[in-house]
Amino acid sequence: MIPFNKPYLSGNETFYIEDAVKTGKISGNGKYTKLCQDFFENKYGFKKCLLTTSCTDALEMCAILADIKQGDEVIIPSFTFVSTALAFIRQGAKIVFADSEISNPNIDVNKIEKLITSRTKAIVTVHYAGVACDMDVIMDLANKYNLLVIEDAAQAIDSYYTSANGEKKPLGSIGHMAAFSFHETKNIISGEGGLLVINDLKFAHRAEIIWEKGTNRAEFFRGEVDKYGWVDIGSSFLPSEIIAAFLWAQLENLNDIQNRRKLLWQTYMDAFKKLNNSSIQLPVLPEYASNNAHMFYLILPDLASRSQLIARLKENGFHSVFHYISLHSSNYYKDKHDGRKLSNTDKFSDCLVRLPFFYELEIDDINRLVRCLE
Ligand SMILES: Cc1ncc(COP(=O)(O)O)c(C=O)c1O
Repeated sequence: MIPFNKPYLSGNETFYIEDAVKTGKISGNGKYTKLCQDFFENKYGFKKCLLTTSCTDALEMCAILADIKQGDEVIIPSFTFVSTALAFIRQGAKIVFADSEISNPNIDVNKIEKLITSRTKAIVTVHYAGVACDMDVIMDLANKYNLLVIEDAAQAIDSYYTSANGEKKPLGSIGHMAAFSFHETKNIISGEGGLLVINDLKFAHRAEIIWEKGTNRAEFFRGEVDKYGWVDIGSSFLPSEIIAAFLWAQLENLNDIQNRRKLLWQTYMDAFKKLNNSSIQLPVLPEYASNNAHMFYLILPDLASRSQLIARLKENGFHSVFHYISLHSSNYYKDKHDGRKLSNTDKFSDCLVRLPFFYELEIDDINRLVRCLE
């Protein structure tokens, strides 16, 4: 069976883990944590980076830093993973779900403004499949209504947005804060793992405290204070050096990983274009978005045909999977949702299927899969 995902080891993962162990420092915020954080800050111009144990944790830090309180409203796409909403719900927010665009699963920026009320505090964007949301429009709305923008960039490492003025910006560098995932299904992995990005430096000092269990321990280790103690709320959001050492090996091979994934993505795209089957909709990339080759998906006409496709692929040795179930119709939230119909979200929930996609997938596997669908 060709799996849907297979974690890729780029070479030095266990070597760096062994090095961390030998140096006797395996808790967090050591040499490998700093190497990774510096890498992200230098390569993408993120103002401040903190590794976290997951993207879920990075989003929880964002919700705390945004000072979300009971009754605040946060606008979120409904077609996303639970974590995007969970972070804000835990702070007592009311989630106002927005629909997807018609042609791709990202939030429809033209539908956001009418959802803004005097209680709206933040907009959370999700760059689905690493494809940018239309950030110019979102940042304009945020400026107009004095809102925070948090980029859920879980899938969006090494992907870019080109502004109307031609400026090319890395995803995660545009909102006030951003969160990335290094879960084993992502392009760059550490098993579980994540990254908090702070672009508005007024949040930087508090972020470090929340990261270190509500203490000023990071300042103490830098020699900036002579003792550390409890100064705020927080949690154990920082990963161990073992995770960071693994991640560092991946980052050293970022270009190779990305090149391979882009080749595989293009192979799928070309093969499906050649197949020219009008009942299969291919991914659409807006002209302002780059492609980081995070996943390859198809949109089928309806739920029944998608289920049939998944079953047929399985019979032929390929594991394909659907993705998010609309959060506005989830068991947890359906009674709290305001009842608006989010038909594009529901369409992607019912009709989107993700095909096997991982570094070691062979071009021949892709050609066999497409021939089998033919
Ligand atoms: C859009 C989105 N946000 C957040 C997450 C949570 O990431 P993690 O598993 O690193 O907590 C995911 C998981 O895949 C995701 O798809």
